[in-house]
Amino acid sequence: MSGHSTFQPKNRVVKWIEERLPVFSLMHGQFIAFPTPKNLNYWWTFGGILSVMLVVQIVTGIVLVMHYAPSTQIAFGSIEHIMRDVNWGWLLRYLHSNGASMFFIAVYIHIFRGLYYGSYKSPREILWILGVVIYLVMMATGFMGYVLPWGQMSFWGATVITNLFSAIPLVGETIVTWLWGGFSVDNPTLNRFFSLHYLLPFVLAAVVGLHVWALHVVGQNNPAGVEPKSAKDTVPFTPFATLKDGFGIIVFMIFYAWFVFYLPNYLGHPDNYTLADPLKTPAHIVPEWYYLPFYAILRAIPDKLGGVIAMFAAILVLFFLPWLDTSKVRSTRYRPLYKQFFWVLVVVSVLLGWLGAKPAEGIYVILARICTVYYFAHFLVILPLLGLIEKPKPLPASISEAVLAKHKGGAGAASAAASAPETRG
Ligand code: HEM
Repeated sequence: MSGHSTFQPKNRVVKWIEERLPVFSLMHGQFIAFPTPKNLNYWWTFGGILSVMLVVQIVTGIVLVMHYAPSTQIAFGSIEHIMRDVNWGWLLRYLHSNGASMFFIAVYIHIFRGLYYGSYKSPREILWILGVVIYLVMMATGFMGYVLPWGQMSFWGATVITNLFSAIPLVGETIVTWLWGGFSVDNPTLNRFFSLHYLLPFVLAAVVGLHVWALHVVGQNNPAGVEPKSAKDTVPFTPFATLKDGFGIIVFMIFYAWFVFYLPNYLGHPDNYTLADPLKTPAHIVPEWYYLPFYAILRAIPDKLGGVIAMFAAILVLFFLPWLDTSKVRSTRYRPLYKQFFWVLVVVSVLLGWLGAKPAEGIYVILARICTVYYFAHFLVILPLLGLIEKPKPLPASISEAVLAKHKGGAGAASAAASAPETRG
């Protein structure tokens, strides 16, 4: 599927480089001539948005590090110094902290887009698995980053989450001591989290490289979920996808700027503006919003080890999704039953997020248990069975037919149009 490059260098310097290292024809083949399904909607712009957010996080992070000091004595003060004394330091910090939230908003939309259109199905299994690896690395990076300001939530969040490993039988305590580099979350912990927080985004960039490579081998899925059959089903990546992605990125940046300039602390926790105090436990220890559904699952299980296993299993189950979903049809457009279960999963996931921020008591725990059972049932019971019992709607013969059916109204019009001479791009 990789775009066949017809690139012919005109410039002598470009030609000279091209003959020795064909980077220009590679870029031309992958990002200019690359055949892109012509029916992609705006949900397909989030991959590009995520790529931009990764760059924003790396660039703002590198500049922040020029002023930040990873020591329990001065970390909190160095953040205040960035906010008050460093030129544009407040902007850098707010771009980075809100950037993390934006990154997660975009990744959740990107994942649910994949779930809706069946983008994880054959032949895109490795593409999907690399995505789940990216998601795990993002979670680890965000968690360690939140510890760096050394506020109350940094310290207590790190304490609660690292302590989870103590639930592992026999070696649990040893693992926790090893993770901490001592007998509590302290200076060695902050130092190693800082080191890894700096390293992981580059690992992320490498895995994203593999992700996009895998994407360009198998080609993009599309809202109809049928593979392109002829040149009529695709358009060149540039200008069509580049312009659409560019517009999506601009709109997303406006949304991001709205948070940075008008609600810079809305997604954070006020307790993190208080210096970490190992002797004062906050009344409610809550992680960042993007971990809340998993935090709810952790606390829904009455047993500590069971909770830890359920929390990790909730992510790991995604690795097996391409094989758990037994339906041959990709797009939810043609799966009337799955469509309903998809939306129930969205509601359940949001509800779990809301419950993760509530105290682990009374009705909240009961609701969290129901939602946890449903979450796992969706992947382990509903998806495997649905593929066997659901009667999908008839699939369009091609992407062109799906596009024409949408614009002329109805499948009859589509087949009539399919036999008529092609008039669209
Ligand atoms: C840093 C994070 C990520 C970046 C930069 C990224 C980048 C991209 C890009 C550029 C595309 C092509 C454009 C598009 O389809 O939107 C794409 C497609 C895709 N991504 Fe990601 N991605 C990320 C995370 C993830 C995650 C976490 C998953 C799943 C768990 C995932 C699964 C997929 C799938 C299945 C496709 C193919 C979609 C299709 O063609 O229908 N990605 N990604």
